Amino acid sequence: MELGLEGKVVLVTGGAKGIGEAITRSFAAEGAIPVIMGRNRDEAAQLIDELRNNGGQVAAEHVEMTDLRELQAAVGRVLDSHGHIDVVVNNAAMNDSVDLTAGPDAFRASLERNLVHVYALVHYCLAALKDSCGTIVNIGSKVAETGQGGTSGYAAAKGGLNGLTREWAVDLGRFGIRVNAVIPAEVMTPMYQRWIQTLPDPEATLAQITSTIPFGRRFTTAQEIADAVVFTASPRSSHTTGQILYVDGGYTHLDRAATIRDLGE
Ligand SMILES: NC(=O)c1ccc[n+]([C@@H]2O[C@H](COP(=O)([O-])OP(=O)(O)OC[C@H]3O[C@@H](n4cnc5c(N)ncnc54)[C@H](O)[C@@H]3O)[C@@H](O)[C@H]2O)c1
Repeated sequence: MELGLEGKVVLVTGGAKGIGEAITRSFAAEGAIPVIMGRNRDEAAQLIDELRNNGGQVAAEHVEMTDLRELQAAVGRVLDSHGHIDVVVNNAAMNDSVDLTAGPDAFRASLERNLVHVYALVHYCLAALKDSCGTIVNIGSKVAETGQGGTSGYAAAKGGLNGLTREWAVDLGRFGIRVNAVIPAEVMTPMYQRWIQTLPDPEATLAQITSTIPFGRRFTTAQEIADAVVFTASPRSSHTTGQILYVDGGYTHLDRAATIRDLGE
């Protein structure tokens, strides 16, 4: 399927690693120009070299997303170099285990890490998105729907992200801007690795979680998330807006019975 993404400038926050890396790769493969916005210069440099050596177009802005002044300046540089911004993928986040014992300052800091920069980036890109009739894809988490325990800040941020997806779809539809969210549940990435290693028996927990994912008894791959993001952002998805799309093998919503027996049995 021709997705019509050639030459589109796509901001991918946290686009050098994990799910973001897969999203960057997929947009590059479609002939778009992904701009990795993230804090890790070395990882971005490696990915850029590889993609450019394979004929892809890609750029990077080194930015700590919580530094909003830096973020605004980065958006300005992208517009100076490319002249337009067509897609914003809000992917950067961190499940930071800020729980109810952590206190209001830590909670506020978690919202800064996981939600405030999403609002800020879209705010800074708004005029450009109106010019391009662009699109926004927010990467949420099942935690907004299911809870996880011990992560109040992240849960609130991801709940807020779903709210903003609907709010912005309403607010920006008149400018031809579509806004959707893609929601992973269990994807093996550096963040997930870090989290699982904090548990008393990582291997046993991993096996237990895997066994309860209804479709295929396996984790979702980062590529499967990226495929959904690229399609949702593309003109081939032109009448889809305000949707919260769970790409999770049925983990979040299917009948509890499906978590203990194979689908199709
Ligand atoms: N991995 C999963 O199973 C899973 C499940 C649900 C939701 N998600 C969501 O998917 C998205 C990507 O997660 P991942 O697992 O690939 O994470 P990851 O930690 O493996 O990669 C995230 C990338 O974003 C960058 N980043 C994060 N915060 C940043 C900041 N403040 N400033 C600059 N760069 C920043 C990191 O440096 C990293 O490169 C996140 O929004 C996460 O909430 C992931």
